This record gives sequence, structure tokens and C-alpha cells, in this order.
Amino acid sequence: MSLPSSLRMSSTVALAAGLVVTAFAPGVQAVPALPDAHAPAAVTTALAAPDLSLTNVKAHLTQFSKIAADNGGNRAHGRPGHKASVDYVKAKLDAAGFTTTVQQFTSNGATGYNLIADWPGGSPDQVLFAGAHLDSVTEGAGINDNGSGSAAVLETALAVSRAQYKPAKHLRFAWWGAEELGLVGSKHYVNNLPTTERSKIKGYLNFDMIGSPNPGYFVYDDDPVIEKTFKDYFAGLGIQTEIETEGDGRSDHAPFKSAGIPVGGLFTGASSKKTAAQAQKWGGTSGQSFDRCYHSSCDTTANIDDTALDRNSDAAAHAVWTLSAGTTAPPAGTVFENTADVAVPDNGAAVTSAVDVSGRTGNAPAALKVGVDIVHTYRGDLVVDLVAPDGTAYRLKDRSGTDSADDVRTTYTVDASGETANGTWKLKVQDTSAQDTGYIDAFRLTF
Ligand code: TRP
Ligand code: ZN
Ligand code: CA
Repeated sequence: MSLPSSLRMSSTVALAAGLVVTAFAPGVQAVPALPDAHAPAAVTTALAAPDLSLTNVKAHLTQFSKIAADNGGNRAHGRPGHKASVDYVKAKLDAAGFTTTVQQFTSNGATGYNLIADWPGGSPDQVLFAGAHLDSVTEGAGINDNGSGSAAVLETALAVSRAQYKPAKHLRFAWWGAEELGLVGSKHYVNNLPTTERSKIKGYLNFDMIGSPNPGYFVYDDDPVIEKTFKDYFAGLGIQTEIETEGDGRSDHAPFKSAGIPVGGLFTGASSKKTAAQAQKWGGTSGQSFDRCYHSSCDTTANIDDTALDRNSDAAAHAVWTLSAGTTAPPAGTVFENTADVAVPDNGAAVTSAVDVSGRTGNAPAALKVGVDIVHTYRGDLVVDLVAPDGTAYRLKDRSGTDSADDVRTTYTVDASGETANGTWKLKVQDTSAQDTGYIDAFRLTF
């Protein structure tokens, strides 16, 4: 990949903590920049999603298994094991700072529950949504179907909280009730969502059966951006995926799709049999169902392929992070820095080093920190100004016939509150006396 020229010399990446990492492209010399060369702006990148802990995901499965065991062997709609599952997930989310809502509905004469969790923040008009059904069939505990998706979505949400992730989009998570009765809970949710609220949902990601014991790696063939996000993730792990074909519309993404919302999701297979070609690329047993315990009593914690569960959980977190990131404003305290050296000609014209400030709103700080590193053999020669984007100059240092020390390495504080923050700021340096010379080593602004 070829970099844009502005980034070729060095790219400065502002991290959340306000740290700055300056990376030089290999083989590129830090030559003195042209006097007016624009420095790379601080580039905020979407922080990478955390690698979810398989141990944590499996701990949720263990709890779902216990809940089923304590409640007549299942977590089905209208049975106490479903409500206990809702209570378990809700308690984790409440403790992690989510705003949770339990939406009730009636199906088959029994009360059903959808659990919705909102992560505070993000654009209210841009919602990224991830969900899984939390009910099982009555035949068993439903650990692969769908403890697996429920646990992955829960662990993704908890990872958002641990990271105190501040995505551009608003994040919402849901654990649906009565999926096994015909997508009842998710249909209820979508049908009761006002049109304006529906239009805010920019994507719905579904996770239903993602730890099948003889797994395939299936990606829903729906919204192309969501699909590509998942496919790219697996490609990065060197795993080939296939399009999900074991029944389009057989899970909770269907009502969202019907409402015109972009959807996607992951699936490791149900009762269909793995082909020889699939066993070739994914391992496992050809001629055998992806999940021989689908909808039966043996869908227990033993009915999980750990590797598939781990990869799919990580893919869920990756998609949630990636699809919600957008372009975020750099956090306060971001350092915008130009470390390209600029020669200061002896007794010559002024030269500048520039940084492009972007992503800020309003004016610059009243106590703007201006870091100046100039290497010089007689700093009294130097006149140094900070030049705002509109050309206003702030004198940082005058010349002095008696200051014979080397170098200027200091941080000035400038009241820049009258200046718009965004734009190209320059450090202007002029050497006003003959003999001694030097160069601008670095120029940085902390916003
Ligand atoms: N819970 C779904 C069901 O019982 C499982 C399933 C079957 C599925 N085929 C699917 C989920 C395809 C997603 C995609 O129908
Ligand atoms: Zn299911
Ligand atoms: Ca000089």
C-alpha cells in the first residue's frame, strides 16, 4: 500500500491516553522538510477490539447450564430458566454501566422478555446493534443454541465497558426471548419501534449458534459492509468462510432486515451435514451434522467447539468495534507533533514547521502548550513565533545578544483562545545573526 505523501515521512498516531507514537516508514530518512511542508496531522485510528477471553465466554455458558439445571433442564420461553437467564445477563450489564431495559410481551399465553442494553454515549442517530436469542427449546439447556451467541454478545458488551470504549455510534445490545417460537421477541421489538427509531439503527449483527461442535464458519450474506467486516476478520486468521445457507431468515436478524435495516451475522451450523470439502478446509467430521445436538437434550456445555466459539466471539467484538468507530474526535490532551527536522539558515529567512490540527471543535485553549525543540549553537540568534491558522503570530522568544547557550528545548504556554483550533499551525523560526546555525528538531501542540 502506498501512503499519501503527507504521511510518508512520519505518521503520528494519537492514542486514547494522549500518547503519541511517531513511526517512521522504513528506509525513509528524516530529511529537512521544505519550509512549508505540512506535518502529518495527529491521526486518530479506531482502537482495535480486544481479544475476548474464551474463559469468560465459557464461564457464561457454565452459568446458563446451571440455570437450566436448576430450572427443570431448559431456558425456554415461559419457563423460569429463561427469566433466570435474563436476570443473570442483566445483573452483569447493570454492574458494567449499561442502561438496561426489560421489554415484556406475551406469546403462547406466557410472558416473554427481551433484554435491551444501551451503552451511554455515541451519536443517538447512529445506532449499531448486536443481539442473540437467550431462550432455548424445552428439550435442553440450549448451550450452543443459543448460549453461545448470548455469551459472546455479553462478553463483547462487558469488553466495551472494561475498555470504556467511546465509539462514534451509539451501541445497543439485545438478548431476545421466544426466538424458538418463531422470532417472537425480536419481531415484537422491531414492530414496536417507531419509524424514526428504526431509521437510526445503522446495522444489526446477529449471533445464533456460534460454537457448534463440528463447526463451519458461515457469514450471513446480507449487508455488504457487515459481511466484509466479518469476512476480513476470518481472512486475517487464515480461515475460509462460506455464505450462510442453512435457512435465511431463521433467526432474529430477519425482523430487522424486513424493516429495511442492514443486517449481518455469524453461524457455525445446525443440523445440516458437513461436506467433505468443508471438512477439508475446517477440519471436523464430514457427513456429520455441524451440531448433532441441535434442539435436543445433549446441547450441553460439552456441545461446544472451543476454537469456533473463541474465533466467533472475537469476530463479534471486532465487528462491534469496527462498525461503531466512525471518525471520533481526538481526546483532550492529544499531542499534534511534527518531528521532521527543518534547517534554520544562518542569518537567513524564517523557516517553519507545521502541524495540521483536526477533529477539534471551537477555539484553541487559553493555555495552549507549545513544545519547541530547536537544536542550535547560539540560541540568542533565534526569534521564535507560533503562527495560528489565520496567520496571527504569537511571539514565543525574542533574539538576545547575550544568551549564548545552545538549543531551545522548552514548552511555552500561549493564550490561543482567540484562535480556531482546527487548521495548520506553524512554528516560525528565524536566525538573525551570522555564524551559529541549527535546525528545528520538533514542534508540538497539546490540545
Ligand atoms: N435458532 C435457529 C433455529 O432454530 C438456528 C438456526 C438454524 C439458524 N438455521 C440458521 C440461525 C441459520 C442462523 C442462521 O432456526
Ligand atoms: Zn437459535
Ligand atoms: Ca546564526
